[in-house]
Formats: sequence, structure tokens, C-alpha cells
Amino acid sequence: MPSVRLTWRAICLFEAFDGESRVFPLLRGQRGLDRAASRTRSEWFTSEPFACRFLEAKRDRKRVELTMAYDLHHRLARREDIPDLTALMEAAISELQKPFLSPGQIASSRAIMGLDTQLIDDGTYFVVEVAGALAGCGGWSRRATLYGGDRSPGRDAALLDPAKDPARVRAMYTHPAYVRQGVGRLILLLCEEAARAEGFKQVELMATMAGEPLYRACGYEPVERTSDDRGGTAVPLMRMRKGF
Ligand SMILES: CC(C)(COP(=O)(O)OP(=O)(O)OC[C@H]1O[C@@H](n2cnc3c(N)ncnc32)[C@H](O)[C@@H]1OP(=O)(O)O)[C@@H](O)C(=O)NCCC(=O)NCCS
Repeated sequence: MPSVRLTWRAICLFEAFDGESRVFPLLRGQRGLDRAASRTRSEWFTSEPFACRFLEAKRDRKRVELTMAYDLHHRLARREDIPDLTALMEAAISELQKPFLSPGQIASSRAIMGLDTQLIDDGTYFVVEVAGALAGCGGWSRRATLYGGDRSPGRDAALLDPAKDPARVRAMYTHPAYVRQGVGRLILLLCEEAARAEGFKQVELMATMAGEPLYRACGYEPVERTSDDRGGTAVPLMRMRKGF
């Protein structure tokens, strides 16, 4: 299975706790210390979902800067992945949209998000795994539907014309345990490479507010701000595009 090696620097605190040295991860974007999320030193390096290779530690009293490496494996999704994909999407929708949307908007967004099995059948949907666990998923499409899952109304399976239409980027989700570790960026890259190889000159997507920072960081530009209230409450969205 193809893979990409990432190095990851984390600032950790080692603290004597019940006679055991425990590691408190202070990851980017994570506020404060979460005692429940702490692990013993050996758990940190060997257990799921953080299985990673220890490269280097710089220690200054209790503050330790760790450099670790882990491999992101990627492959095309298969129909057997559907239960795991559904669970991952549910976790991402409920947890990762909290900073951006109200509880009502998150509930409403379920009507317009989720798995589109057509992408799996088309061979255009990727999964990323870390140490055998599903860390993220996302895909692209040569079909007209811009966004939405199997349950979303108004889908259109018509084939796009690579010479004049933008390919679609679809259904990007990262498991909350793996955010801000480059999973989304890797999947976008795979999608763009595949769309370009089929002759598309640009890609388009409909971004959630949680997705917008990723797409901006990867060179997508806003086309139109809109919203979708088919789930009951209006959910803000942004149509975005990138040329190759
Ligand atoms: C959007 C999502 C897929 C991003 O996945 P991710 O794997 O965490 O993204 P990456 O780690 O590859 O992020 C790459 C860059 O995007 C930007 N970025 C991603 N998430 C961000 C956030 N929450 N806030 C600010 N910048 C962010 C950063 O520039 C980041 O680089 P950095 O971490 O080196 O600063 C994930 O947050 C998610 O599943 N959200 C909920 C579901 C959803 O809304 N999906 C989008 C549907 S359109």
C-alpha cells in the first residue's frame, strides 16, 4: 500500500502520576491538558491511534519536545469499508464542526453530508490509514453532484466534460484523533492528481465552515457563499475552486 511519512513535533509534559510517568499531549489547536487523554510513555508510542516512531526528544525539566514519525497509508475505499467510513464521518461531523456551527446546524448538516457510495463504485474515493486504523477519507468525482451523501436529495450522476467542467472534490473527513496531522492535505493531493490525470483543468467543491481553512491552505479560492436548509436549519457553505 502506498504511504507518506510525516514527522510530527509535539510539546508534551511528563508528570509523575500514581508513581507512573505520564505523557500529556499538547497538540496544536488543543487547549489545556486533558488528563483523561494522557498515556504512559510506552502506551503513547505503541497503542492505537498514536502508534508512531520516536525520533528525538529534547528535554527541559518537565517540558519535552518530541519529534515522531508515522506513516500515512492510502488506498482506494472498498464497499467493505462502509461501516468504518460511516462511523468516522459521524465522529467528524459531530466533533469537528462544534467550533463552527450551533448544535441545530450540526444536526441539519447531516442531511447534506455523509458517504456517497457512487464514489466508491467509481474508484474515486480514498482512505488513509495509520497503523491499520482509519484516519481519514475523501474523494473526487467526474460526475455533476457537487456535495451530499447517499441520503441527500437532488444528486446528479451525469458525467462532467474535463475540457470545460471542473472535477468535484467530495466528502472529506478526518477522524477527530488525527486532525491537523496532514491527512486532509494528503487526500486533497491524491484527488487533484487523479482529476488532472483524467484531463480536468480545475476542481470545485462545496466547503463546510470546518472544511474552509483546509481548502484555503491548499490553494482553493472562494467562488460564492451560500447556505443549505434542507436539513431544517440553514447551514453556511462556501463554493470554492482551484485551477491546475
Ligand atoms: C476539514 C477536515 C477534513 C480537515 O482535516 P485535517 O486532516 O485535520 O486537515 P490537515 O491536517 O491536512 O490540515 C492542513 C491545513 O489546513 C488548515 N486547517 C485544517 N483544519 C483547520 C482548522 N480547524 N483550523 C484552522 N486551520 C485548519 C491548516 O492550515 C492545516 O495545516 P497546519 O495544521 O500545518 O496548520 C476535518 O476538519 C474534518 O473532518 N471536518 C469535519 C467534516 C467536514 O466539515 N469536512 C469538510 C466537508 S467540505
